[in-house]
Amino acid sequence: MCGIVGYIGNEQAAPILLGGLEKLEYRGYDSAGVAVLDGDKITMVKTKGRLKVLADKIHDGADLHGTIGIGHTRWATHGAPSDINSHPHLSRNGKIALVHNGIIENYMQIKALLEGEGYTFVSDTDTEVVSHLIDYYYNGNMIDAIIKAIHRIEGSYALGIISVDHPGELFAVRKSSPLIVGIGNGENYIASDIPAILSRTRDVYFLEDNEIVWLKGDKIKILDTDKHEIKKDVFHVDWDVSAAEKGGYEHFMIKEIMEQPKAIEDTVCPRIQGGEIVLDDIKLTAKQIKALSKIYIIGCGSAYHVGVVGKYVMEKLTRIPVEVELASEFRYRDPIIGKDDLVIIISQSGETADTLAALREAKKRGARILSVVNVVGSSIARESDDVLYTWAGPEISVATTKAYSTQLQAMYLIAMHIGINNGKIDEEQKEHLLAEIQTLPAKVRKIFEDIAPLQNYASKKYGSKDIFFLGRGLDYCVALEGSLKLKEISYIHSEAYAAGELKHGPISLIEDGSLVVALATQEDLFEKILSNIKEVKARGAKVFAIAQEGNTAIEKEADFVVYIPKTENIFTPSLTVVPLQLFSYYVAVNKGCDVDKPRNLAKSVTVE
Ligand code: F6R
Repeated sequence: MCGIVGYIGNEQAAPILLGGLEKLEYRGYDSAGVAVLDGDKITMVKTKGRLKVLADKIHDGADLHGTIGIGHTRWATHGAPSDINSHPHLSRNGKIALVHNGIIENYMQIKALLEGEGYTFVSDTDTEVVSHLIDYYYNGNMIDAIIKAIHRIEGSYALGIISVDHPGELFAVRKSSPLIVGIGNGENYIASDIPAILSRTRDVYFLEDNEIVWLKGDKIKILDTDKHEIKKDVFHVDWDVSAAEKGGYEHFMIKEIMEQPKAIEDTVCPRIQGGEIVLDDIKLTAKQIKALSKIYIIGCGSAYHVGVVGKYVMEKLTRIPVEVELASEFRYRDPIIGKDDLVIIISQSGETADTLAALREAKKRGARILSVVNVVGSSIARESDDVLYTWAGPEISVATTKAYSTQLQAMYLIAMHIGINNGKIDEEQKEHLLAEIQTLPAKVRKIFEDIAPLQNYASKKYGSKDIFFLGRGLDYCVALEGSLKLKEISYIHSEAYAAGELKHGPISLIEDGSLVVALATQEDLFEKILSNIKEVKARGAKVFAIAQEGNTAIEKEADFVVYIPKTENIFTPSLTVVPLQLFSYYVAVNKGCDVDKPRNLAKSVTVE
């Protein structure tokens, strides 16, 4: 939800800011802007539309002079996308410019206060109050003004601030929105995320809530709200810059789909050593595992869908009751949860506002928190008791693929770890499961060997108005994800149903020519789903089915079939999801959609 970047050094700031924003555009892309400080003058350019519109307007930054600046790419919350609502926002005398990621919840009260003091507002945003508020409190010391302002504002924020009264300085502060400091040589940066600065530096500081950053070209000071200096460890980013580049693919999404075998390998293989699961990062003891009375799995969107798979798998392997819940519901429903419960939080970004709030709620009630996170050092990772990192690498496409797949692996590893420790998985089963999970990367690669028919099929179906996904058991869990993937990137209306529910309502939607994607990989439920396929066929539906290799009985009923390699039942979601991701991708490409940046969405949802 919005990306911010800031630069201070000896080079022209504007091109560096545009370069950084390009890497943050996944966070929001309805408008963009930059402000550059040159001596005692701020030059600001901002515009509705993609970053490209801004870059063209300022000739890739060449029009703006100054070696200090801030930039923003927006996902609108308060105030529609427009030039005036774009960031940066100026204080009333034009001396302070700031960019903001987050939501100021009490902006109406602050606005009323400032209006009483004679301030006028030009935008409909919540952010504008902050620029005026800092100006209101300013009496020559910027840090004091920022501290007073953050004591007054409620909500979430990462702010980057420049002022004409402080040439040679850049300020920043965060609360509940991500912000990092990039450490350069004679130059420094702030950014919402690492890729924004990765081409310039690999050394960063992660900021905690209410930490205030005071940057000069050759100096970084991080202060608490009592102005005490905070010492931090430098985090060295060791991933390759190319991991955040398209590398010859047309879209990040297809690149990331293709990266799944390696991402699964990286997440699983180092954790299986000498025939044992070694979850180095997890301190949960065997004694604590034996005492567990319940497991909650919490996430949003696709991460929640991973949790739905996790419930099936964990209950099967551990025999502990598992509840899976949407973070946005959990946080407000007064859950019954206590110290013998384990809460598994799933989040790629580690910054999703609802998921973070759910984590805090569960922690407050005494539960132990184990998070499954992709972004190292993110808020969720830092606030958890244990972290199991997914090693998917940076995921840029807004629609998740490789993060989903690696989160599934985390579910398997955790379920096996608990099942082994509470005695529900015996030696023989352990050996079998550990051997089988390690075959998944090769099996995903095998699916890639023959994707032309699927690509061709998608090119005929992109005109569909509605597409229904059906499945039973684990296939139902994957159907949820397949349907979300399709609708979010192709804008085709889609629903996923547990196939047994069909007769209880949804079947009335099926008409001549409706497309139904039927997942039929669960061997014990095969006959049941076959009956459901027959039912929709009898009402005129066309059926695209996914089944396990060798199960050719499906050919008689389905119009088009994709086979996945055979695997142990609990691992089928890792394979079934792949043709669904590819189908969605090719449908969206055929429709001419902006696959990596679907309308109205942003990758990291740091507002409620
Ligand atoms: C869908 C998608 C979203 C995310 C959700 C949670 O393709 O990417 O549904 O899964 O916004 O995000 P994280 O995992 O960052 O908490």
